[in-house]
Amino acid sequence: MKKFLAATLALAGFALAVDGKTLFQSKGCAACHQPAADTVEPSLKRIAQAYAGKKDQLIKFLKGEAQPIVDPAKFAIMKAQLTALKSLSDAELKALAEFILSHK
Ligand code: HEC
Repeated sequence: MKKFLAATLALAGFALAVDGKTLFQSKGCAACHQPAADTVEPSLKRIAQAYAGKKDQLIKFLKGEAQPIVDPAKFAIMKAQLTALKSLSDAELKALAEFILSHK
């Protein structure tokens, strides 16, 4: 129903506001990434600093089209998570990237 509604609204020309924070939580990303504290996984702050001014590159990474730059030695763990993002639209990936980058 939600999908149908979204498709209908999209067809009708409404831009649906996509919430990057909601996506980050609903896709399970928050289970590993803390806002500011580095654990086994880099914090959102550390990722935002590494990708400052590189939003397009971050979107490419989320699509699986760019190499990791934050902690390449642990990329195997992160790589497995990218499949959760395969179904996202470009607008959703952009919102997700903007949410991550807001943690500088
Ligand atoms: C099982 C734990 C885990 C989950 C869940 C997880 N990540 Fe990660 N993530 C990591 C680890 C470990 C790294 C460090 C390796 C790396 O830099 O790629 C990382 C790195 C990253 C990076 C930096 C990539 C770079 O350039 O090095 C981004 C961006 C990222 N994660 C986004 C996400 C998003 C979005 C989600 C939700 C779909 C997510 N992560 C879910 C463990 C996780």
